[in-house]
Amino acid sequence: MSNYHIKHLEEYYQVYRKSIREPENFWEEIAEEHFMWRKKWDKVLSWDFSKPEVKWFEGAKLNITENCIDRHLATRGDKTAILFEPNNPSEEAEHITYYQLYKRVNQFANVLKEQGIKKGDRVCIYLPMIPELAISVLACARIGAIHSVVFAGFSAIALSTRINDSDCNMVITSDGSYRGTKTIDLKGIVDEALESCDGVHTVLVAKRTNSDITMKDGRDHWLTPLLDAASVDCKAEIMDAEDPLFILYTSGSTGKPKGMVHTTAGYMVYTAYTFKNVFQYKEDDIYWCTADIGWITGHSYIVYGPLANGSTTVMFEGVPSYPDFGRFWEIIDKHKINQFYTAPTAIRALAKEGVGLVEKHDLSSLKVLGSVGEPINEEAWHWYNDNIGKKKSPIVDTWWQTETGGIMITPIPFVTPTKPTYATLPFPGIQPALMDENGQEITGNQVDGRLCIKFPWPSMARTIWGNHQRYKDTYFSAFKNQYFTGDGALRDEVGYYRITGRVDDVIIVSGHNLGTAPIEDAVNEHPAVAESAIVGFPHDIKGNALYGYVILKETGKGRDQNNLKMEINQIITEQIGPIAKLDKIQFTSGLPKTRSGKIMRRILRKIACKETDNLGDTSTLLNPEVVQEIMDHSL
Ligand code: WT7
Repeated sequence: MSNYHIKHLEEYYQVYRKSIREPENFWEEIAEEHFMWRKKWDKVLSWDFSKPEVKWFEGAKLNITENCIDRHLATRGDKTAILFEPNNPSEEAEHITYYQLYKRVNQFANVLKEQGIKKGDRVCIYLPMIPELAISVLACARIGAIHSVVFAGFSAIALSTRINDSDCNMVITSDGSYRGTKTIDLKGIVDEALESCDGVHTVLVAKRTNSDITMKDGRDHWLTPLLDAASVDCKAEIMDAEDPLFILYTSGSTGKPKGMVHTTAGYMVYTAYTFKNVFQYKEDDIYWCTADIGWITGHSYIVYGPLANGSTTVMFEGVPSYPDFGRFWEIIDKHKINQFYTAPTAIRALAKEGVGLVEKHDLSSLKVLGSVGEPINEEAWHWYNDNIGKKKSPIVDTWWQTETGGIMITPIPFVTPTKPTYATLPFPGIQPALMDENGQEITGNQVDGRLCIKFPWPSMARTIWGNHQRYKDTYFSAFKNQYFTGDGALRDEVGYYRITGRVDDVIIVSGHNLGTAPIEDAVNEHPAVAESAIVGFPHDIKGNALYGYVILKETGKGRDQNNLKMEINQIITEQIGPIAKLDKIQFTSGLPKTRSGKIMRRILRKIACKETDNLGDTSTLLNPEVVQEIMDHSL
């Protein structure tokens, strides 16, 4: 018998030890007992981090939607699978049962097939948080099409880059989206993006806002009539364990976004197993993760992990501030939420509004609180623990990444004693290592270093779409035979991990992973900009915010600085999206550079963080004098 559900600390240690000593037996037992396979695997694991190549459950055949939907029908057909809470609180919530989900996914899958989508084709999904988003994701998986969900806050340019990178031939979108009081013209953004995407032959449009949009003849189709005409039966395509399930883009420190490729069987097993344990989900619980399905958190812990366990998963269309900052607490009360999973940035923003809005609502249904996306600071942790969990609901601070597919370091609630700001212990199957700058593993406790993982786990990304070399260079080259996470971490005296933040040029803003290079590229597109450098600095709510140092060309020097700043942020909004806007822009005559011409971001970061007491050695700079100028005018 596998220990699918861990219930006390000794059991955790026992399970963990087994997962390290006999990883193959460990995962095989879990896979065998808790999932539906069309054919079992020939080999549990083969791997070589030097290539890198990782295969789990090779030879197995399955369809993930049979695991997420069909197999629950006999016992949970009338149970709510997806509970949709609309943006507008006076619009009724929608309960989609497993049986209804089955029919709607099948109809959608049949529409995809009628529109020429086949196994292995890429389909881009650009939708707000409405049921069609989860349904279209599952419909793709049903027929073996590879979904590439693009968060519907990304700009037209960001969307077209992603569509072209993975050669999608279909886009699924809606006429518009609601966000608080705003209505966003999603279809207009898609139309603009598609001007530079020749490969897209079909656009399916869900109706949400009834906005007046243009439909391009032959290319664009309203979804409703197609769905209505489609059969509710659709045989699931039988997939290989290692067939790609989806592509999801994440930004890197350099270059264009990376299309992380996740495959089928390992991803399913790991997200399901982590979901069950990290949230201690019980049959009648109502689980709510506030993320958007456009991010990995939504893929793994709104759609696949919860549904694979036959859970009720909430999808919320709106924002935490509408109609007021009590909306999250109102929803918890209204739907009697048992597990609530959100981001530190949201907690900080809501804490700022005071406890008055919290106290209006009954939060006694809560059993487990989760945090994800960035380190949770001590103050936010206590506010969450005291006011939302009333010191009764353990907080699971879950550390993981788009690339890892599932939660890696986390407490198990009621099992692992929590400690503020610590993600605590590795999940079974996860073997973390802290490395020093010379590539040596740092053993023992009370040490810090670069966080690596030394053994494969089932849900790790297998490659970057179309660029395996970049996958190797980014994750498997810094440290020999290790997956390098890009994060720093420390390990305390009992072996708990605390994530200290990125050690590369990625900045986590409001829990969103932003590479500096693409933002600098956008800034440099401004005709008056000669060069720029972007760093992060601490921000009360967002965790980090962006600080841009900008050198102007002669033509820019006489111009109104505020206008220039607005124009620069406008370009960023167009190229990437509003999340990447700069909070502070400082115009400067130069940037500190090494003799080889590399910008010394370390110095710029310290100035932005107002830590100028110890700038380190600046004597090797090409232009040390510029440092004083930048300090004198820092914002
Ligand atoms: C980066 C990955 C995984 C879903 C959301 C983000 C940071 C994530 C934590 C945490 C400290 C965290 C890391 C990581 N991060 N969770 N609990 N504590 N840092 O996914 O966009 O791929 O970002 O987010 O820096 O590397 P992502």
